[in-house]
Amino acid sequence: MRTGPSRHRGTFAESEPGGCSPPGAGKQGPAVGTEWDPSLAVGHAEIDGQHQEIFRRYAALVKAMAAGANEDLAVLFEFLGEYALEHFAAEERMMAEVRYPGATVHAAAHARFVREYGELRALWLANGPTHGVYVKTSTWIADWLRAHISGVDLALARFLRSVPPRARASTG
Ligand SMILES: [Fe+2]
Ligand SMILES: [Fe+2]
Repeated sequence: MRTGPSRHRGTFAESEPGGCSPPGAGKQGPAVGTEWDPSLAVGHAEIDGQHQEIFRRYAALVKAMAAGANEDLAVLFEFLGEYALEHFAAEERMMAEVRYPGATVHAAAHARFVREYGELRALWLANGPTHGVYVKTSTWIADWLRAHISGVDLALARFLRSVPPRARASTG
């Protein structure tokens, strides 16, 4: 049994995308957790649609990294980071509209993700797609998204469903 990925010309690819097995990824390989699945549905169409798009962009980043497609990573890091910002802003607008009591805590979690994502991207820029960058990309983002969606996003969606339209703050 291999204990970690070997590097081939600076990549983590063994033979094809998804063929490498970073420590902790289990027997299924690094794709585990990088796909949206129905257990992550929060029951709010707009939020669920945006979460699916985040996972699509995230899976593309992890896949490119696993395949050693280093030339694509700048675009893919940006592609995911930009959309995450848009999504967080959308949730924060919804929270303001309904004067959501958990808005400050929820927005702080978004801000922490943005900061840590920026640090991960900076690490990649400074050192290239090292083993550490690969492991963090393929695990931390998935873990964060799953915990955040199943926790504070689900709570927000439930609250949004409970608020009658007339109780929403005017936005203009
Ligand atoms: Fe959120
Ligand atoms: Fe979200």
